[in-house]
Amino acid sequence: MNQNKTYKPCDLVIYGALGDLSTRKLLISLYRLEKANLIEPDTRIIGVDRHQKNDEEFIGITQQSLQEFLKDDIDPELWARYSARLSYLMIDLTQMDQYQQLHEAIDSENRVMVNYFAVSPVLFKAICQGLHQCGVINTESRVVMEKPIGHDLKSSKEINGAVAQVFAENQVFRIDHYLGKETVLNLLALRFANSIFTTNWDHNTIDHIQITVAEEVGIEGRWDYFDKTGQLRDMLQNHLLQILTFIAMEPPVNLEAESIRNEKIKVLEALRPITHNNVDEKTVRGQYTQGFYKGQPVPGYLEEEEANTESATESFVAICVDIDNWRWAGVPFYLRTGKRMNYKRTEIVVYFKQLPHNIFKDSYRNLPANKLIIHLQPNEGVEIEMLNKVPGIDGNIKLKKTKLDLSFSDTFKKNRLFGGYEKLILEALRGNPTLFLSREEIEQAWTWVDSIQSAWEHSNDEIKPYPAGTWGPIASDSLLARDGRAWEG
Ligand code: BG6
Repeated sequence: MNQNKTYKPCDLVIYGALGDLSTRKLLISLYRLEKANLIEPDTRIIGVDRHQKNDEEFIGITQQSLQEFLKDDIDPELWARYSARLSYLMIDLTQMDQYQQLHEAIDSENRVMVNYFAVSPVLFKAICQGLHQCGVINTESRVVMEKPIGHDLKSSKEINGAVAQVFAENQVFRIDHYLGKETVLNLLALRFANSIFTTNWDHNTIDHIQITVAEEVGIEGRWDYFDKTGQLRDMLQNHLLQILTFIAMEPPVNLEAESIRNEKIKVLEALRPITHNNVDEKTVRGQYTQGFYKGQPVPGYLEEEEANTESATESFVAICVDIDNWRWAGVPFYLRTGKRMNYKRTEIVVYFKQLPHNIFKDSYRNLPANKLIIHLQPNEGVEIEMLNKVPGIDGNIKLKKTKLDLSFSDTFKKNRLFGGYEKLILEALRGNPTLFLSREEIEQAWTWVDSIQSAWEHSNDEIKPYPAGTWGPIASDSLLARDGRAWEG
């Protein structure tokens, strides 16, 4: 992994600078990077959007966003340094002649142009054409693209194809913000820097693995996007499959982008297809109904603002995934993700196998197996559940389930946990592609997900309701119960 602290100054151009992603995440993350002294002094931030604004107004909007979302006081000196980097260009991204303004604003001699597409993917093609036509791109330029990259394999190929006409693959940085999360990156350390896990990490010792990405939020005014997308495409195709690849991949030869991506692709290629033959047995789709969030009643999916009351889009999905390779044969991976669940929780639970023989029958009839629980968010940390003897000199040895508990906030008190976007923006500015997705990875993930989506379309198994504020439909419990297992409580 390229850890260069210094990098050539950049002209970071944010397309969709006044939109949600930019004002809630990007401009805030950039300020935090400024605070950490991680932005090169000569780097500039150029906001591009279709609304008529001048530099001062854009700076004012950025300041308002910081006041709203920073959760910290704005330091006047820091703000002066940060705001001096900001400028604004009004461009209608569908109008090719308007891109000429970029030509005048960009300093390609002394700075690397980093183009951050924080707009709907329907505009990606137009932006690439506009950039090409105005002649502002050179071999150093980069493009950073947000998900969703397509809606399925076909549309993803179209977008990647249009981008490839202007940018070489090594200039394209595709974001999955989960890959910027400290705890997701820690999976590499946990697996490949600790011999207990390098050796006990396969079908010989592991019974099964659960990955849960539960969200408390509902649709949050995004009905139109979400209803066309659903939880399978919005969360599982990217975030959950990425976590899965980190857990399941073979050791990469080093930490270079190419080595890691190659191993991840092999996992995606080994995912057993889910088709109309096994979709009802391997998957559960759910949709939330009225329920409670933090003690307050909340509407069901079909009662959300602007809802189409006939919608059959899933807000929850649980899947039993088989990985057909030597390491994972016979080890199911159970994945679940949903909106409006009981509380926000992203975790991986690795269930080790039970011991073949129990010599502590007097204390425990069935010795529970060890568990490794990796809390990705919130309360980041790692726990190992194990049995210990209860102290005492009288009678038989008594066992008790206990935890080795490593909480990141207690252990790394002095190190601030940065958010995913800060890490990824910094790596894009530095030009380090390790944490970004290759075209092949995305297309492989779509191939697997498209098969499920199409099998659902032809399935008679209906979408299952679940009350908001719960852990999803009962059928999701049955998915594991059938195999004699249960979700981590
Ligand atoms: C986004 C999805 O990619 O991730 C959202 O589009 C989802 O629907 C969000 O809410 C979850 O991200 P995080 O970091 O809050 O877990």
